Amino acid sequence: MFALRVRICSTSLPKGLLVARPYASKPIPPPTTIEGVTHPADSWTNLSPTVVSKLGLNLHLSPDHPLGIIRSLIESHFDTFTPSIPPSAVVTVRQNFDELGFPADHPGRAPSDSYYVNRDTVLRTHTSAHEIENFHRGLERWLLSADVYRRDEIDSSHYPAFHQMEGASVWTPANISSLPSLNDALRQKIAAASSPLIVDDPTHPPCPTTNPSQPEHDPETLNFMIDNLKLSLNSLLLTLFRTHTDQQGEPLQIKWTQTTFPWTAPSYEVEVLFGGKWLEVLGCGVVKQDTLQRSGVPEKMGWAFGLGLERLAMILFSIPDIRLFWSQDPRFTSQFSAEKGIVTFKPYSKHPECKKDVSFWLPQGVDAVEWHENDFCDAVRDVAGDLVETVAKFDEFTHPKTGRRSLAYSINYRSMDRVLTNVETNALHLQVTDLLTSKFGVEIR
Ligand code: PHE
Repeated sequence: MFALRVRICSTSLPKGLLVARPYASKPIPPPTTIEGVTHPADSWTNLSPTVVSKLGLNLHLSPDHPLGIIRSLIESHFDTFTPSIPPSAVVTVRQNFDELGFPADHPGRAPSDSYYVNRDTVLRTHTSAHEIENFHRGLERWLLSADVYRRDEIDSSHYPAFHQMEGASVWTPANISSLPSLNDALRQKIAAASSPLIVDDPTHPPCPTTNPSQPEHDPETLNFMIDNLKLSLNSLLLTLFRTHTDQQGEPLQIKWTQTTFPWTAPSYEVEVLFGGKWLEVLGCGVVKQDTLQRSGVPEKMGWAFGLGLERLAMILFSIPDIRLFWSQDPRFTSQFSAEKGIVTFKPYSKHPECKKDVSFWLPQGVDAVEWHENDFCDAVRDVAGDLVETVAKFDEFTHPKTGRRSLAYSINYRSMDRVLTNVETNALHLQVTDLLTSKFGVEIR
């Protein structure tokens, strides 16, 4: 996302290179206690102290927090859906990947992308990890919101912990004939609102090769189902963006695109044009019958979606940096309340940045390690916490004679709340370079 990597839906990335496996020759860390439960560690364990410190903070449940405000707006919009909060972010690999049909070589499973508590257990990477149990409950319309965790780059829109909301609507053979009239009602509702949204949808009809439907589905019913999915989500976006225009005061543009998810077909993403860039805000699709069968409701048919609360909140409240959501600074927290709803964030200060570069040779021969940028980002985060704003690679080459590989990164340190002194930044940067040597065995250049 942000023209970098897909975030809300990295589950939709093309098939990957490797079957997920732990990194070689890593010392096994001690067992981890999360929310009172102790989990044994193994060679898959890659939790970082920073990410563990975010567990249980539940920003999305705080009614006056921007994430809580968006959550309740969505819950009020879908007022016939049953909302729920799953208990723990620690889920099984089965729940997060296997039961949803992720192939063994899907990049989302790689330990460079996901936090493994151990071989069988992960921090959920998306709220879809709870889809099957929710369908099992027999609910026909439900919502759930939760914190999710992914290993990623460091920049203003990526943070290893973030929040998603998932929703689904399914029909039984007895009530599926109500779809056309439900769709008519939604169309009328959308037409009645003076729309600040321009919706571009080139995905109709779904392409049989790149976005195939399921052979079990009768084409006519499927069309009604897809219409219902799109109308329901356009209507939600209309509610959320009702009072919002872009920076030039123009209506917002949204775009439907096709994608793939292992448990939906056809599958879509919705992007919003914001600050000149297309931002992906949600992924959705018609739930595979396979998945519904696994959930004990093979007779039902329906759709599901998952959206990123930070993404929506950044756009709706004009919050420029994802780290701000975790800020306890009253200059941030006091700007928002359930009563005021969506307001434009007033930046209280932008303190000076401090850019530091580091270049190094990767180890070779017996000491060679696979270089995963997300390992480096986690390590920087563990040293500098929220004082790190961006980590960007600016150079990479292989020495023609020795075959040694060199990398160079620029790290931008900036506090959201105060001015960082040079002494402080130098000390942080020294810790980062020390860690590069001790943890990754590189040679600083
Ligand atoms: N879980 C998906 C993601 O995080 C979004 C999604 C939810 C897609 C439900 C389809 C159905 O990218």
